[in-house]
Amino acid sequence: MPDQQASATRVLAVPPRREAHPPGPCAMVIFGAGGDLTKRLLVPALFNLARTRLIPDNFAIVGVDIAERTVEDWRASLLDMLKGFVGNPASESHVEQVDQASWNRLTAHMSYVQGDLNDPGLYDKLSEHLDAVAGRHGTGGNVLFYLAISDRFFATVVENLGRSGLAHQDGRRWRRVVIEKPFGHSLESAKDLNARILKVLDESQIYRIDHFLGKETVQNIMAFRFANGLFEPIWNRDRIDHVQITVAETVGVEHRGRFYERTGALRDMVPNHVFQLLAMVTMEPPVNFDQNSIRTKKADVFAAIKPLEADDVVRGQYGSGTIDGKHVVSYREEPDVAAGSNIETYVALRLKVDNWRWAGVPFFLRTGKHMSRRDTEIAIRFKQAPYAPFEDTPVDALRPNWMVLQIQPDEGISLQFEVKRPGPVVQLVPVRMDFRYRDWFPPEPNVGYETLIYDCMMGDATLFQRADMVEATWRVVQPILDLWEVNTPRHFPNYASGSEGPTSADALIKHNAPHRAWRSLDTPNGHHS
Ligand code: BG6
Repeated sequence: MPDQQASATRVLAVPPRREAHPPGPCAMVIFGAGGDLTKRLLVPALFNLARTRLIPDNFAIVGVDIAERTVEDWRASLLDMLKGFVGNPASESHVEQVDQASWNRLTAHMSYVQGDLNDPGLYDKLSEHLDAVAGRHGTGGNVLFYLAISDRFFATVVENLGRSGLAHQDGRRWRRVVIEKPFGHSLESAKDLNARILKVLDESQIYRIDHFLGKETVQNIMAFRFANGLFEPIWNRDRIDHVQITVAETVGVEHRGRFYERTGALRDMVPNHVFQLLAMVTMEPPVNFDQNSIRTKKADVFAAIKPLEADDVVRGQYGSGTIDGKHVVSYREEPDVAAGSNIETYVALRLKVDNWRWAGVPFFLRTGKHMSRRDTEIAIRFKQAPYAPFEDTPVDALRPNWMVLQIQPDEGISLQFEVKRPGPVVQLVPVRMDFRYRDWFPPEPNVGYETLIYDCMMGDATLFQRADMVEATWRVVQPILDLWEVNTPRHFPNYASGSEGPTSADALIKHNAPHRAWRSLDTPNGHHS
């Protein structure tokens, strides 16, 4: 294997990094201070921001939760957790080392407020507390409220923020609210949630998060498309045969059986994460890179997707099997899962983006748990050459050209094309040209929430969902949710853990086009014929 980094950097030097500025003063209130999300993702991300000096100089963290605990206990439990992530690059919460200076900087002004989210008294107490924090730590009265709590409390908390005056902003101070996923569990509930929070907050104060947009490789799609003259001219129905988006996980539902039993793969992944990937690939070029232009272009795509019909979707549920050499149980045997559960852990779907650019190009999306390999990728298959002037090699024997945007793991972009195998006989073979992030950029500890939190503090909502976007994505999947409500699947479980999903998904992609097939998950980086 040649030293790719050396050969790459010999040709092009990567310019030095342009440094970001720390945000202005603010306090961050974390509702759900003792929860999993706070410990596993928010605090490690804040720590990484502190390490790179991207938290405000005047910063305070206020934890809110129901448990009685002192701020010292809270801080100690977070530090313990953080230390557990050190030196484990495989962990999503990986931090390089917990240097005391960064930790101290982050937690210098930390406090804890105990209370019940349903109790209006909590918000009055919090309001007084935040006034004191602003006085003591110079946070200017700016507050970022982070709702790291169960979705059933979202509207309640926002309404209480309104009632207590905490949501009120003016020219001197801002108030913003970050709302986690799931944002509704149907079109109706998403609309209802939007209506309730928009009674209290202005749309510009709401940051609906989708953590897939915190991934560098996802953010890069726009740069890749719109900063290069090379690809955009072929990025349309004239040259593209179809697009496959895969989000395959080897993990099962783990300790989240209760959540998953009322969610399933479709709700959990499709209208949010998978559709975000779809929007990045299909959106029109924005006029400029501001939040309105970009979000409007994405919203246009969601509006162009026709609501799904029964034939467009295949669902699956994992049985037992083997993953990475280990025996794993079926979904129905997972903790907190009903023995006869009909919840899907896999979904594949075919959809169309009905607009000028994409007319006639099918998009195939699939996501599942307990699959053979972890792989998130967007694979674009180009149309065949129109004519093959090679003896004995008809056009249909040529392997297709693929462009693969590899989101995770092995982040990068690759292009597959045919070349002539050296020798006297003309023989065509597929080869691949790879860009891998790790060859060009030193890896940095990143849990995926750093940019998102930083952007909230900066007031940049580009990577967050607007009300209309969320509703448009639910509108697409709602007919299927309705259908599944009344139609029980007959053959669950229908794929073995450690496999590539149910075989019935093959017919979905082959429909009227025998040359189409799902890319194999079993060959890393999707190399296949
Ligand atoms: C979450 C889903 O939103 O995203 C999980 O609830 C899923 O079920 C996870 O595993 C995937 O995110 P990532 O960043 O690990 O690919």
